[in-house]
Amino acid sequence: MPDDVGFVTMARAKASGEIPEIGIGMVGYAFMGKAHTNAYKKIPYMIYPPPAVPRLVAITGRDEEAVRVAAQRYGFEAYYTDWREMIKNDRVQLFDNGGPNDVHAEPTIAAALAGKHVLCEKPLARTTQEAAAMLEAVTRAGVKHMVGFNYRYVPAIRQAYDLIRSGKLGEIYHFRATYLQEWIIDPTFPKVWRLDKQRAGSGALGDLGAHIIDLARFLVGEPRRVSAMTRTFINERPIAGGSGMDKITVDDAFVSLVEFENGALGTLEASRFCAGRKNHQVLEINGSKGSLVFNLERFNELDVFWKDDQPRETQGFHNVLVSESYHPFWENWWPHGHFIGWEHTFVHEISHLLDAIVNDKDIDPTGATFVDGYKNAVICDAILQSAQVSRHVNIRY
Ligand SMILES: NC(=O)c1ccc[n+]([C@@H]2O[C@H](COP(=O)([O-])OP(=O)(O)OC[C@H]3O[C@@H](n4cnc5c(N)ncnc54)[C@H](O)[C@@H]3O)[C@@H](O)[C@H]2O)c1
Repeated sequence: MPDDVGFVTMARAKASGEIPEIGIGMVGYAFMGKAHTNAYKKIPYMIYPPPAVPRLVAITGRDEEAVRVAAQRYGFEAYYTDWREMIKNDRVQLFDNGGPNDVHAEPTIAAALAGKHVLCEKPLARTTQEAAAMLEAVTRAGVKHMVGFNYRYVPAIRQAYDLIRSGKLGEIYHFRATYLQEWIIDPTFPKVWRLDKQRAGSGALGDLGAHIIDLARFLVGEPRRVSAMTRTFINERPIAGGSGMDKITVDDAFVSLVEFENGALGTLEASRFCAGRKNHQVLEINGSKGSLVFNLERFNELDVFWKDDQPRETQGFHNVLVSESYHPFWENWWPHGHFIGWEHTFVHEISHLLDAIVNDKDIDPTGATFVDGYKNAVICDAILQSAQVSRHVNIRY
């Protein structure tokens, strides 16, 4: 329909009434700090009218000079070198934690108990116990809570979710997910925090596996049991910023079989040792009526196959450009075929969170809450346990 095309619709947005402001306090200014700030800045003009206008109140880092520069660069009004001080700032209403995994629990719990809404990056915690304490705190505090499972906000993945929920795929038989990167394949690459169990909790599992575990739960449902193997290919690495070598205490890769409660079978695999694979997250879902395939490196596409398509002579996988104004999230962007990318998942995610905060809406089921973060931690721990004992492990939340 011509009227649906973004060329026609993109100038239509109208706002009426006051748009509330919400004060943001952020921990960390590196990878995720940058990605989240980019989203806060885009929301007021790309999502129109925005649920709230984010006000960049304060940012925390440990190094004063570096955090001062980050505050200036990103446009935060103030900076701190201790998150405890930032939590005392009354203008901070949403506490956004983009710190390493060992900096998730204590600051996020303290912020929630001080009455701040919280967004914490994934994996929510290093262990099930830590995740349970975080869930308990946000529940007790009665604040909104979200975990940064941003791939739920890829338009093609949300389209897959809608198709599955509408029954279009029929009964789900298989979920197959791989998440492959290559960035630590060089043995001289140093031991950064992601390779330290004390700081990260786990390796490829918590870093990449957590995302595909979340997508498995989001798209297919709860797992009943898992069985897994993990491997550490390089056991020592140069100490980051120091001299000498240190032992690697996390998995470099894992593979897992999953049996879902609805009877579907799944496989999950993640590794940071796959030469040539940059950010290769591929999902395939096979149901009684068809199949769906998504590849993150082809962000705006979804491959679909419908078993009963007619005529049968032209049956086959076909490629859908998920960029129409009627596709998920696309009403906010460009005319069809003028593509968006990875960073926009955070715009969708945080806008959903702001809407939930200012309009007292639920974050679930489309957004991931600390309940999802906790269940994810239970599954990660079950995968590690299965690899250790070489047996199936049942999932018990
Ligand atoms: N959703 C995603 O796609 C995605 C992608 C990458 C990382 N992550 C997650 O985001 C989190 C951060 O990862 P990253 O890649 O941004 O890491 P990073 O190492 O790039 O950045 C971490 C930031 O935290 C700061 N920091 C460390 N300790 C601190 C402390 N005690 N107080 C204040 N600041 C502190 C560092 O200075 C740095 O700015 C991790 O939990 C990671 O798993 C999520």
